[in-house]
Amino acid sequence: MINSSDLKLTAIGTDIKRKNADALVLGIYKSEDKIHIADSVLPAASTAQLEQALNDLGVAAKADELTRLPGVQDSKAKVIGFIGLGVDSPADLDSETLRRAAGSAARQLTGVKSALFALPAGTVEHAAAIAEGIALGNYRFENFRSKKNEKPVLGDAIVVTPVSADKQLPAALKRAAVIGRAVRATRDLINTPANELYPESFASTVRDYAKSLPLKVSVYDEKKLAKDGFGGLLGVGGGSDRAPRLVKIEYAPSKAAKHLALVGKGITFDTGGISIKPAAGMHAMKSDMSGAAAMFQTIAAVAELGLDLKVTAWLCLAENMPGSRATRPGDVLSMYGGKTVEVLNTDAEGRLVMADGLVAASEEKPDAIIDIATLTGAQMLALGLRTAGIMGEDTLRDELVAVSQRVGEQAWGMPLPEELRPSIDSQVADLANIGERMGGMMTAAVFLQEFVGEVEGQRIPWAHIDFAGPAFNEGSAWGYTPKNGTGSQVRTLIGFAEQFAAS
Ligand code: BES
Ligand code: MN
Ligand code: ZN
Repeated sequence: MINSSDLKLTAIGTDIKRKNADALVLGIYKSEDKIHIADSVLPAASTAQLEQALNDLGVAAKADELTRLPGVQDSKAKVIGFIGLGVDSPADLDSETLRRAAGSAARQLTGVKSALFALPAGTVEHAAAIAEGIALGNYRFENFRSKKNEKPVLGDAIVVTPVSADKQLPAALKRAAVIGRAVRATRDLINTPANELYPESFASTVRDYAKSLPLKVSVYDEKKLAKDGFGGLLGVGGGSDRAPRLVKIEYAPSKAAKHLALVGKGITFDTGGISIKPAAGMHAMKSDMSGAAAMFQTIAAVAELGLDLKVTAWLCLAENMPGSRATRPGDVLSMYGGKTVEVLNTDAEGRLVMADGLVAASEEKPDAIIDIATLTGAQMLALGLRTAGIMGEDTLRDELVAVSQRVGEQAWGMPLPEELRPSIDSQVADLANIGERMGGMMTAAVFLQEFVGEVEGQRIPWAHIDFAGPAFNEGSAWGYTPKNGTGSQVRTLIGFAEQFAAS
């Protein structure tokens, strides 16, 4: 299921004649109606000639605009790919602009096996952003095609940078490769259809993958879930022949001072259950396990990077189907830990499986809990398709938003308005699983908050990420983001883990 081909990422100095590659990638921008190659590594005469050709062709140098021209004498590459940087001046270039430009070029430059990326990379930070962009953009999902695409994907990417000899660069390139692999593996899982990826097969994929890493995996099957009273997972999974699973993944290095718990929504398919969804577009609900995939790959990356941080990931896996054992509207479930929930709408299933996961995570008294879920359509109404909503304890929420900005992901802090709480009161149980529709993303978060445990009378610092929109791209590819599974928020979660380990 996780099958993305590997990519070799290296760096060289700006003397590109030393290196053979199929393609050379250069960054271009337009200023005063003229195209310029940013920090060109080619001699002045070739640079001027190419800039003139790009002008004559009417190239606009917008972001995501890739122009291919034949190679020139001064470089061994047969093809030069000019990627629009989308800025008016090289002074406006920041890490994310470079990451997107490199990623967009890598994504669109099909048919070349090796490429030199000579985008402006004057600092280790910028060189690393370019490497990361390449590792994110270089993605193709064809596990389910009987005939594979004959054009190869990039196997060898070389970042051209004046800081190629900097002592910090090798670690930065390794980090870029690890992050790229984690995001691509997350996408593979999201893109895998639900007839292949269901709770049991997801759990065995985790077991297999974890074998090569210092991770401990425990799988709670339906018997264990019943014995321990995981009513959320069992209630949601009851309508499917494919029984639910709770997967616990532990990374516990000896030097760790802090413990971070991660909880991910893993609905391998969301039909809505008895409160069934309309047919149009339902296929995209194979992506309703994006949260579990993101948490799995985050802990895998943390282990690969060898962070000094204890991390426990909880993957809440179930298939929401309307079978004869399905939960009915009006049924009352007893969640892990004993709280009862009246299910007024079986399509609000994510919060039910997440509630079990949050209680289980809380039992271990971690220093912080982060959960992530494709939880509500309301998230997309509030923030659109590219910006995740982050709610929870104010400090942790704001730290996550700041990290997302630093790593180049889009997320925004949202409140937990106290007036929403009475809307999830139930006539018969402790809580109802739906409430106020206006601000429904926050209503769902207010529900989840009820399941976050306390340590010495204080609620464990907790943040909730709703990424219903950003997890799955039904529009066009852009920057390093492909169509379909995106791997959104994995970089934010890894970035947060790094910061938390160091704090
Ligand atoms: N998985 C969906 C949310 C979703 C919708 C994610 C579209 C991605 C794209 C979730 O389980 C759901 O169905 N939520 C309901 C909740 C409602 C019944 C309170 C929703 O948002 O409509
Ligand atoms: Mn649903
Ligand atoms: Zn769902």
